[in-house]
Amino acid sequence: MSQDTKLLSADADGYAQAAALLRAGELVAMPTETVYGLAGDARNDRAVAAIFAAKGRPKFNPLIVHLPSIEAAEEIAVVSDAAREIAARYWPGPLTLVLPLRPDAGLSDLVTAGHDTVAIRLPAHPVARALLTEFGGPLAAPSANPSGKISPTTAQHVIDGLDGKIAAVIDGGPCVVGVESTILALDPPALLRPGGVAAEEIEALIGQPLPTGGDASKPNAPGQLKSHYAPGAAVLLDVTAPRPDAVWIGFGGDCPTADLNLSPSGDLTEAAANLFAMLRKGDALAKTRGLSTLAFAPVPETGLGRAINDRLRRAAAPRD
Ligand code: TXA
Ligand code: MG
Repeated sequence: MSQDTKLLSADADGYAQAAALLRAGELVAMPTETVYGLAGDARNDRAVAAIFAAKGRPKFNPLIVHLPSIEAAEEIAVVSDAAREIAARYWPGPLTLVLPLRPDAGLSDLVTAGHDTVAIRLPAHPVARALLTEFGGPLAAPSANPSGKISPTTAQHVIDGLDGKIAAVIDGGPCVVGVESTILALDPPALLRPGGVAAEEIEALIGQPLPTGGDASKPNAPGQLKSHYAPGAAVLLDVTAPRPDAVWIGFGGDCPTADLNLSPSGDLTEAAANLFAMLRKGDALAKTRGLSTLAFAPVPETGLGRAINDRLRRAAAPRD
């Protein structure tokens, strides 16, 4: 009984249609500044179960709850003074905080996968904010791609991966940040996922280094599934010269013969914004040329480079 996915415009009519679908327990993909999210009513078990089903996502991997305001966050989580200080600096924006869940939060247990914490983010994208306001409730939203595949940064990417599996997508153009939010645990502070806010900035704000959290060998540690962001082609990293068997994706000015370049000027912000679209483009190019490998030039491990390298390492990780 699969139906086509509706493409909605980013205007009052689009938001009204999207909110009505969400109220009916349907799924709507929405643009955020990081990547497109696959939104469903976080209070509705059926809607949340449908998110896992549409993505083919393992149920032990909890979802991020998207909210319009810090007041809304206080209703579902315990926000400490330390958390409030960080939130005041980065919300709305590409930062997710993992906070203690309030027992009366009213969220579907599937959202948190039974954990006593909840991941919360206030997106900055005007379309996500307009939809949250129109809908008037918490939206659970993982990235709007089949589990393990490349995250979507345009409405077309969403359609390419999920057409017929979700009710609608709102077209808000390409995402400006281009990598997912930074996920921060507090008490004690730990970096669970590098992302759109540079870890160094948070370290400067809280005055201490951030240990990286999670353990890839434990698949029930959230967010630590190793192979992810996987294109069709195999991925090689730190490649500094062209190879006859590969599409070469460069960074900066040292690879003038690269087939594609994440940022010819070596700008990490631009590289992050281009990353997922270039993984897709590189994959298509490899297919056209009959090649089976994408080779990436090195990207510095600072600022947004940490998020870029994290995604590239996962794209290169062995696949089961
Ligand atoms: O930028 C983003 O964060 C995008 C946009 C759509 O907001 N969303 C996103 O969601 O990347 P997703 O589901 O692809 O990644 C959510 C991550 C997962 O790695 C999950 O394990 C982690 O958040 N997570 C969720 N709840 C958690 C919790 N209570 N404790 C630790 N990690 C959690
Ligand atoms: Mg994802």
